[in-house]
Amino acid sequence: MRHLINLDDLSQDQIMQILDHAKDFAGKSPDQLPQILKHKTIMNVFYEDSTRTRISFEIAGKRLGANVINFTTLGSAVVTKGESYIDTIMTLNAMGADAFVIRHKDENACDIARQYTACPILNAGAGKVEHPTQALLDAYTMLEAKGQLEDLNIAIIGDLKHSRVAGSNIRLLQKLGANVRLVSPPDLFGHGRDDTPYFDNIEDGIKDCDVVMCLRVQRERLEETQIVDPDAFHSQYGLNHDRIKLAKPNVVILHPQPMNRGVEITSELADDPKYSLLRRQVTNGVYVRMACLDILVNQQ
Ligand code: NCD
Repeated sequence: MRHLINLDDLSQDQIMQILDHAKDFAGKSPDQLPQILKHKTIMNVFYEDSTRTRISFEIAGKRLGANVINFTTLGSAVVTKGESYIDTIMTLNAMGADAFVIRHKDENACDIARQYTACPILNAGAGKVEHPTQALLDAYTMLEAKGQLEDLNIAIIGDLKHSRVAGSNIRLLQKLGANVRLVSPPDLFGHGRDDTPYFDNIEDGIKDCDVVMCLRVQRERLEETQIVDPDAFHSQYGLNHDRIKLAKPNVVILHPQPMNRGVEITSELADDPKYSLLRRQVTNGVYVRMACLDILVNQQ
């Protein structure tokens, strides 16, 4: 595994290798973690805003001993001086990098960077297409809760069209044998394979599910002509305690966050420990990113 850019480049075995390796780091306090990335430099290059993913990669790298450099466009030569993406990558590369972690609105940003560096590239969210480490941490969290992915009924609900989380999750979960169904308003539908069941009605879509994943309406990515009214969305597609009762009794809920409380999910449900795995996802994200960094930097 040279890079982690597209889910389709990963075999089932490689996905399981990452998920199994993440367990080696799970629950360990920082002083118990091996310093396997000591003297390695990880360039965290974020051209889009991020809270969880950037800090998760930073913590994952630092807890394994790496130097993690955080580049964001704010305060860099990109915004006011107009330095190009390629020049920025070449500059950071010339300072010595052992891995690049890249988030960008251009879905080709990782492939472009690949041509200008010799080190592994990890995709931290590209355009509306791919967010592989989010899908890996979601799969890890579902496995932890359910013990298996094969034959699980998993509904992915919300703004599918603009969601790279949906893109990577659908590909990964189908690869591992889950029954994925998609639920969205018709004008926010996207990413499904031709044979992926689709529902425009949330009640039908949730029925008998083992896992429900909610997605944010990605307002910043809507086309100028597209308007999504938050109240109307909530009344037709918002997840709440009444609707979740249509799923299996032991259903669990995931959300990649950031969430719009009261739009795609009620606050009460998002915070209900009987169903919600939202905090678990964040914690597991660190273990999964440790595994990805170790495999890509040390084991290729
Ligand atoms: C997502 C993203 O940026 O793609 N967030 C994340 O990384 N956890 C989802 C989103 O923005 O809605």
